[in-house]
Amino acid sequence: MSQNTEWMQRDLAVLWHPCTQMKDHERLPLIPIKRGDGVWLEDFDGKRYLDAVSSWWVNVFGHGNSRINARIKEQLESLEHVMLAGFTHAPVVELSERLVQITPAGLNKVFYADNGSSGIEVALKMSHHYWINSGQPGKKRFITLTNSYHGETVAAMSVGDVALFTDTYKALLLDTIKVPSPDCYLRPEGMGWEEHSRNMFAAMEQTLAEHAHEVAAVIVEPLIQGAGGMRMYHPVYLTLLREACDRYGVHLIHDEIAVGFGRTGTMFACEQAGITPDFLVLSKALTGGYLPMAAVLTTDQVYGAFYDDYATLRAFLHSHTYTGNPLACAAALATLDIFEQDNVIEQNKALAARMARATAHLAEHPHVAEVRQTGMALAIEIVADKASKTAYPWQERRGLQVYQHALERGALLRPLGSVVYFLPPYVITPEQIDFLAEVASEGIDIATRQPTRVSVASDLYPNHRDPG
Ligand SMILES: Cc1ncc(COP(=O)(O)O)c(C=O)c1O
Repeated sequence: MSQNTEWMQRDLAVLWHPCTQMKDHERLPLIPIKRGDGVWLEDFDGKRYLDAVSSWWVNVFGHGNSRINARIKEQLESLEHVMLAGFTHAPVVELSERLVQITPAGLNKVFYADNGSSGIEVALKMSHHYWINSGQPGKKRFITLTNSYHGETVAAMSVGDVALFTDTYKALLLDTIKVPSPDCYLRPEGMGWEEHSRNMFAAMEQTLAEHAHEVAAVIVEPLIQGAGGMRMYHPVYLTLLREACDRYGVHLIHDEIAVGFGRTGTMFACEQAGITPDFLVLSKALTGGYLPMAAVLTTDQVYGAFYDDYATLRAFLHSHTYTGNPLACAAALATLDIFEQDNVIEQNKALAARMARATAHLAEHPHVAEVRQTGMALAIEIVADKASKTAYPWQERRGLQVYQHALERGALLRPLGSVVYFLPPYVITPEQIDFLAEVASEGIDIATRQPTRVSVASDLYPNHRDPG
């Protein structure tokens, strides 16, 4: 028995994997990974896979990065963890100072959680609590965009809109207000991204006008709706949204969990709109993809609304056990050093251009409706009919065929439904980008070769996608 098979069998006897129909593993082998090195993951039988999706969008500087490893080891020698209520430590102070320094002006206070969804819960609770402390307890609803994704905990799901992840739990969710997304895939033919995003703002303006009195915050994934299929929009939408939130007295929450740290071409997506949100939620690449941690940055004004004598009961009494873990902070500090010392944002421009060049030919593919890109994220939308952009029935799982082909060829490309995407670590080389493009092209040819087999248009799950 190969080592891979042995680990797979032991795994399936005791584990329940995330975002997985476990029965799939009757025919799809699990891949036990023995080691990581740069963009490569290696299994127990010695086969290597190029991690084109940065292991769920977290890994920016490669697996086993020597600089991040060294910083974590150094931290391990002095302090592995201490609770953050009543205590503090050097890495968390230094990290907070640096986050305040590199994020847009006005975000001066940092609250930590230990994963992205928990960070979203913090921002939602803090926003509503701010309004309670400010004498407006009626502001308790949230406005969110259609096709959004903000995580898997119950409030985070409530502000999401990817049916596959939320529909089953409808009965548990908060009552949120959904506004049509500025998603530029859906723009009328011939219209530019900016004009479409600007036009789509009318619905948000109207919703704010109607509901501002009962709304605590608008929450968005800036520029890229990730789990919703890497759908993208123009920064003008965020500029208009900031101005309107100010006008209507509503907070703006930027979920930059997936897009922060250079993914959109700037360190943070909000820079492209020239704005400061009231809450900026960061996670994933924050620790270089090493350890779970989230940071919620906010303003002095928000912080001030909680700052009072204990007996007024205005404090934010929210906690996660591992808040501000020193090892995670050390990984984050090493990650920020690399961004600074290696001029990463500038260097990425050439890589982003290479991704565009390597995939440009796919725009002509008879089953590709769009190749779109924002910075270091590139997505290829496969469709049953190009002219009408008719999607393949989700039951056919076309993206899964791309995934399987890529594995055979030594790449980890894990499409979101019929959207094949590259979200690679920034240490990828131009030649490796060309390899990914070649593998994706082959995979798309294979996946689109067969005519459509399932005739059911999915009205049960209109925006159902295979999980990423
Ligand atoms: C935009 C966005 N928000 C929130 C989350 C949830 O983060 P976590 O999986 O760490 O809970 C994700 C995860 O993919 C995300 O992409």
